[in-house]
Amino acid sequence: MKKPVRVAVTGGAGQISYSLVFAIASGQLLGPDQPIILQLLEMPVAMEALKGVAMELDDCAFPLLHGIVTTDDVKTAFTDIEYALLVGAKPRGPGMERNDLLRDNGKIFTTQGKALNDYANRNVKVLVVGNPANTNAYIAMRSAPDLNPKNFTAMTRLDHNRALSQLSAKTGTKVTDIKKMVIWGNHSSTQYPDITNTTVAGKAAKSLVDQNWIANDFIPTVQQRGAAIIKARGKSSAASAANAAVDHIHDWALGSNGEWVSMAVPSDGSYGIPEGLIYSFPITTANGEYSIVQGLEIDEFSRDRLTKTQNELEEERSAIADLLG
Ligand code: NAD
Ligand code: LMR
Repeated sequence: MKKPVRVAVTGGAGQISYSLVFAIASGQLLGPDQPIILQLLEMPVAMEALKGVAMELDDCAFPLLHGIVTTDDVKTAFTDIEYALLVGAKPRGPGMERNDLLRDNGKIFTTQGKALNDYANRNVKVLVVGNPANTNAYIAMRSAPDLNPKNFTAMTRLDHNRALSQLSAKTGTKVTDIKKMVIWGNHSSTQYPDITNTTVAGKAAKSLVDQNWIANDFIPTVQQRGAAIIKARGKSSAASAANAAVDHIHDWALGSNGEWVSMAVPSDGSYGIPEGLIYSFPITTANGEYSIVQGLEIDEFSRDRLTKTQNELEEERSAIADLLG
């Protein structure tokens, strides 16, 4: 039996966590032979609700769950963790834009970035789910100078999965027939879902759908899906977000077998995106490492969209610059 791995989840009593922690404890995150100790962080007001979540985890009798820590203390939550799923933040309500959340949620991530720096395993892999996810990941990364910046990522896997599902419905194929889907940029309405290189059952996706559908249906539907879910449910997406978070860490830890996935990661300058900006790229993963897919041609239609979402991320970065001291 492998040694247990400590996995922290923040916002442990929230709606995403109510799906996420059970998926983690059941083995979906790190595989069926990896025992886990869950370290769940919450706000003091939500500790009673968190206790209830821990009771339900107990009642599942998960063989891989070797311990549960529930706490409102960031040091206790982050000590020795190898994975951090930073979910806890205020979600967007109906009619709100992500910018409204920037400063309030930004403060959470300076504190948590510093705590990761001080207490986590030196190789901790960090996924930020809480919005605005890219900029929160940027804040956490900048607040943790002793950790490898590459280990700070934000979630665009939900957008990636949404894009797969839309294209699969349009082409009447299985999602598993679709390869090389990409989400570029910010997890926001400026993101660019790109099927330039996508294939569907071996055929170029662009030969199966027309440009009008791509520009006026596919792209806006994926960009606006979060808002559409909020409108329909009165609350932001939760089960699908948890599912995407599991996909993101699972593939980062265990490999994507050559398949492209989308992850927002610190730019290394690829495709002209400024270094350090947390930007979603086409990614492959192997041996616990991710790599940005290189050498793709970017046409004018794509470049305009890459630039628009880059500009938004640069604006977000300016808006929180003072939080970084
Ligand atoms: P929720 O309000 O149901 O739960 C959030 C939980 O976080 C609450 O229980 C709250 O007490 C806790 N929390 C707040 N600040 C905290 C802190 N400093 N430390 C620890 N816990 C803290 O919200 P939710 O629906 O679970 O969504 C969580 C976040 O995920 C939101 O920001 C939402 O917008 C975001 N989200 C991101 C994606 C994505 O694709 N990246 C998708 C869906 C939702
Ligand atoms: C989503 O994409 O569903 C979430 O980020 C919620 C939101 O605010 O859009």
